[in-house]
Amino acid sequence: MTIHQSPPSSVLVIFGATGDLAKRKLYPALFKLYQKGHLSENFAVVGVARRQLTVEQFRGSVIESIRQTLNIDVDANMDSFSRHFYYHPFDVDDDSAFSQLKDRLNELDARFNVSGNRIFYLAMAPRFFGTVAVKLKRAGLTNIRGWKRLVIEKPFGHDLRSAQQLNDDILQVFTENEIYRIDHYLGKEMVQNIEVIRFANALFEPLWNNRFISNIQITSNETLGVGDRVNYFEKSGTLRDMVQNHMLQMVSLLAMEPPSRLNTEEIRSEKVKVLRSLRSLPPEEIDHYFVRGQYDEGFVNGERVVGYRDEDRVDPHSNTETFVAGKLMIDNFRWAGVPFYIKTGKRLAKKSTQIVVEFKDIPMNLYFNQSGQKGPNLLIMNIQPNEGMILHLNAKKPGPKGGTTPISLELTHHPVHTMNSRESYESLLLDCMLGDTTNFTSWDEVALSWIYVDPISLFWSNQKSQDFPNYKAGSIGPQSSHDLLAKDGFHWWSLPYNEKP
Ligand code: BG6
Repeated sequence: MTIHQSPPSSVLVIFGATGDLAKRKLYPALFKLYQKGHLSENFAVVGVARRQLTVEQFRGSVIESIRQTLNIDVDANMDSFSRHFYYHPFDVDDDSAFSQLKDRLNELDARFNVSGNRIFYLAMAPRFFGTVAVKLKRAGLTNIRGWKRLVIEKPFGHDLRSAQQLNDDILQVFTENEIYRIDHYLGKEMVQNIEVIRFANALFEPLWNNRFISNIQITSNETLGVGDRVNYFEKSGTLRDMVQNHMLQMVSLLAMEPPSRLNTEEIRSEKVKVLRSLRSLPPEEIDHYFVRGQYDEGFVNGERVVGYRDEDRVDPHSNTETFVAGKLMIDNFRWAGVPFYIKTGKRLAKKSTQIVVEFKDIPMNLYFNQSGQKGPNLLIMNIQPNEGMILHLNAKKPGPKGGTTPISLELTHHPVHTMNSRESYESLLLDCMLGDTTNFTSWDEVALSWIYVDPISLFWSNQKSQDFPNYKAGSIGPQSSHDLLAKDGFHWWSLPYNEKP
């Protein structure tokens, strides 16, 4: 669990230092940590990338990316921050580049007095992850007197087999406890709040089961398209890009049993049990549980956008899904019979990530069809862009005739508008420096997620979708996602922050 303390000094080596992730997320997050006093003066960052840059050029680009991302002016603080940054041009295939990097790190260890502690952050093309880890060891970079950690970005493999191969490679160099597999959703404030809401409130935990909950809905809608990540996305699609990681992580946090202790092993072990209880889907049943979509042209936030197949470098007949909705069943005592619906897609009407817990109706509804309307009790957790929680209840309609009216209890003080991903990286980088792996994905979680998702992606890749594109950009997604719930007598609750059902 997150502990608030200053992390020990260390050198952070970022592979992929000129890439988008480093510029948009890592440097701004590190700067925020520095501003907040979470980084001691004994830290150094070594940027590693192909490009030939001088230290000054690199520091300039770090400052520029912080300035642009955070929309702030350059100040003295930023300047002193950037003096902790160094640069090492590097070609993965050149073994001498690794030994030169080793000399550089030894020199910085001494200069910044970091006791040999090292974090290697792989933010480069995933095909190099395994190779880099192995070469780090071969060149002696991991043979140090302090601690060593590996931070690894997603995607962690493309399927179970490739993930297993990657894991085998990195395990030659790092132990499971030294591996920090990033799922940035686990760094989001409200995702971290799921456990607290469940396990710190007597009000919810007794109701958190199939006796009182009718279904749970997890939605992550995006307005963005694929941007410049076409090469990756064409092969990945939304199932691998969002469902295998972020969506299944949220499912496991919502469904896990209370851990016996609030420590990493106990929490991870409860999450793993959920993933193990997911009902696996034989090919002939996949269509009953999962639907896919691909966006057509349309208008998003008033702007005309092209359909997925017309995006630059996308195959005009692409079978890649940009939308997935699914029904997951967790076959254990707590959740038998309760569907967990997930829905996520690109180029939808509104950016929003939300969890809705729909409670069953009371056994005898005295107020049904009386004057007024009675809605179900819903617990809504807004993950982003607004953060907060609302409980929808029913109360007496004011006035002599009575009847019911929906009311809502807001369980947060103020909705906070934040850029979640950036905050996520701040929180995750700090956790890593502190040596806390709780909010990172364990190997068992990764493996079980691929085991769940692989048969679906195999089925879809063998069956070209006949109706793509099947939703307009800027819409609420394909009709099939509504039908999926309608079959069970439910519908998607996608309420704006303050709206009543
Ligand atoms: C990433 C996916 O993991 O999450 C992206 O690769 C997606 O395709 C992003 O856009 C969504 O993150 P967030 O924090 O904006 O919901």
